[in-house]
Amino acid sequence: MDVIEAMETCVAMRYLKEDPVPAADLERLVYAATRASSPGNSQEWDFVVLNDDAIKTEIGDAVWAAMSPIFAEIPLTSGGTTQRMYKGAAYLAKNFAKVPAWILGCARKNYPPQAPTEAFMHSTIYPAAQNLIVAARSMGLGTTFTTFQMAAESVIREQLSIPADVYLCVLVAVGYPEKPFTPVRRKPVSDVLHWNTW
Ligand SMILES: Cc1cc2nc3c(=O)[nH]c(=O)nc-3n(C[C@H](O)[C@H](O)[C@H](O)COP(=O)(O)O)c2cc1C
Repeated sequence: MDVIEAMETCVAMRYLKEDPVPAADLERLVYAATRASSPGNSQEWDFVVLNDDAIKTEIGDAVWAAMSPIFAEIPLTSGGTTQRMYKGAAYLAKNFAKVPAWILGCARKNYPPQAPTEAFMHSTIYPAAQNLIVAARSMGLGTTFTTFQMAAESVIREQLSIPADVYLCVLVAVGYPEKPFTPVRRKPVSDVLHWNTW
């Protein structure tokens, strides 16, 4: 698949089949992630692939326990685009353990060496995560970026023995899509492109 076509249709896929994703394909996603650029080629990233049902259930329960009160406050009945997004996000959070694989993107705050910042840390992991989701789309796999790790950070740290100096930056859901890939809805380029001057 052409890379631009993959980007154009790389929607957040919150409805995923329970069919397992082969380990070799999950490893290929991490390979794609680790082909990304990073500041000074620092590559201060690590990826934890989670496809063990018992671990996903333990963490998934903690995610839902923390997030269900938040979703309970959002009215999910009207049919608008934002409502559909929240409904999908609530569905994903509730069914997170059933998603066949998660990839936890982690990073260390080590760049620049003389004065490390969180900004550089996040600018290391996010290009890698974007590579990962576009690669997944090209392989027919659906993904959703999530920040669900924030809701269950202590459980995740304990369950996965994450070192204290490692930040949990993004948790990507991966599986075969339950719904068709559709074009992403984004602002037209003419609204945001400036040539030579603002
Ligand atoms: C940093 C980041 C965090 C996100 N966190 C979540 C999340 O926690 N749950 C979720 O369902 N979607 C999450 N998303 C997905 C966005 O909501 C989604 O990409 C956006 O609404 C555009 O929709 P589309 O990608 O389907 O076009 C996140 C995306 C990014 C980049």
